[in-house]
Formats: sequence, structure tokens, C-alpha cells
Amino acid sequence: MSGDYARDGFLVLPDFLPAGDCDALQARAAELMAGFDPGRARTVFSTRDQGHARDRYFLDSGGAIRFFFEEEAPDAPNKIGHALHDLDPVFDRISRQPRLAALAREVGLVRPLLLQSMYIFKNPGIGGEVGWHQDATFLHTTPVTVTGFWIALDDADRENGCLLALPGAHRGPLRQRFRRSGDGTVTEEIDATLWPAVEPVPIEVRRGTLVVLHGLLPHASSANRSSRPRHAYTLHLIDGHASYDADNWLQRPDLPLRGFT
Ligand code: FE2
Repeated sequence: MSGDYARDGFLVLPDFLPAGDCDALQARAAELMAGFDPGRARTVFSTRDQGHARDRYFLDSGGAIRFFFEEEAPDAPNKIGHALHDLDPVFDRISRQPRLAALAREVGLVRPLLLQSMYIFKNPGIGGEVGWHQDATFLHTTPVTVTGFWIALDDADRENGCLLALPGAHRGPLRQRFRRSGDGTVTEEIDATLWPAVEPVPIEVRRGTLVVLHGLLPHASSANRSSRPRHAYTLHLIDGHASYDADNWLQRPDLPLRGFT
């Protein structure tokens, strides 16, 4: 595997996804959004609604296609998740293309399983920031194997909220775990080590670029303050040889995980 990935904890691969695939994902996401019943959204997301329905909607989304909205702008989509790659034929085809399978092997996944997919909108002036985190906080295996494939569907830069990363900081410990507890979730502190004092790097990329993110790499993104969208598609993979924690928020009792075939 490339020395860059081992050293930095991320790897930038320009021109990875063909323009036709970027077009297809964007068109399909627009179709899915158009087919979504906003009445349902109001029930689940209205600020008056008790948190319980919202928790359920989220917790059951691991094996479904569900729609999430910006907290500050309840009519604006934030993301669609989290089983697009298994339940939607367009996302399935593009997520399981041989080049992605080869890349998963190259970054060390021996028996890659496609665990989670998200279509992220981050629309102009609305798309909010995502704070510093490690993906292994949310998707935990023992040992840690979660690996993110982040694909730019629009050019991404500092103005529209590109990824930010702390290069090399994937060699530090996992700080938190976000897990199921009863009918809800909790965030548990497991290591108080501060993020290292390295300068955050903005990962400015063109449409079609794929960024591989190590599961322990601290990363974030700013709000979209531009007049341009910053759509992205993310896939999170794990190794089937690692054990998947029973208290991860994402559980798929009715939909077994699959690899690339
Ligand atoms: Fe992340």
C-alpha cells in the first residue's frame, strides 16, 4: 500500500470515479429525495416531536434508506443513509465496481464488507459543519478496521466545506465510542488524549476524487459558506475477520452484510 496512507492516515485519489458515475449518483439521490414523503419528515423531525421517534428512525436506518435534514433548516436535506449500497440498484452497482474492491484490498481489508453508505448534501449556505471525530467512534470492530471511502460529487474546497484532517493522527488512540444503550444512544469517553497539535489540512479536491480515510484519523468539515453545493458519497467498510461490536448503533438483523460480490 502507498506510503502516504500509512504515514498520513488518508489517501487522495484524483479522478477515481468517472463523471458518468458521479452524474448517476447525483441524479439518483435527487430522485430518491423527490420520492420522499415530507409528511413523514414532519412527524419525525419536527422540534415538537419527542426524541423517541427520531431515535428509532435513526437507529433503524442501518438497514434502510432514510432521509435526514439540517437541524438549522428542517426542509433542507442533510443526508440519505445508511444502506443505499444494498437497497438501491444504482448505488449498489457503483459501490461494488471492481476498482473499489481492488482499492479495499490495497488498503488492507482482507475480507471487506460494505457496512454503511451515505449521500451527503451540504448544500450552499445551509450545509452545517461536522465536528472533529474518528469514524471508529461510530462503527467499531475489534481490532479497528473501519475504513472510509469519501467521494467528491462536486469540487470541494475551503469555502464549500471540504474535508479537514490531522495528518498522522490516526496513530493515536480511539477517544470515544458512540453506542446503543436501551432505546437510545450514548457517547462514552474511552481515552482522554487530546488531538495532537498538528495543523489541520484542508483536503481540496475535484469532483470524482476518492479520499480513503483510516478509521482512527481525526477529520471534520466546515459549513458550506459558498453559493455552490458540496455533495459527497461515502462508503464505510470493515474487515469480516474482525468482530463487529454488538452495541454499535448500526445493526442489521434482517440484512446480512455483503462484500463486493
Ligand atoms: Fe467521518
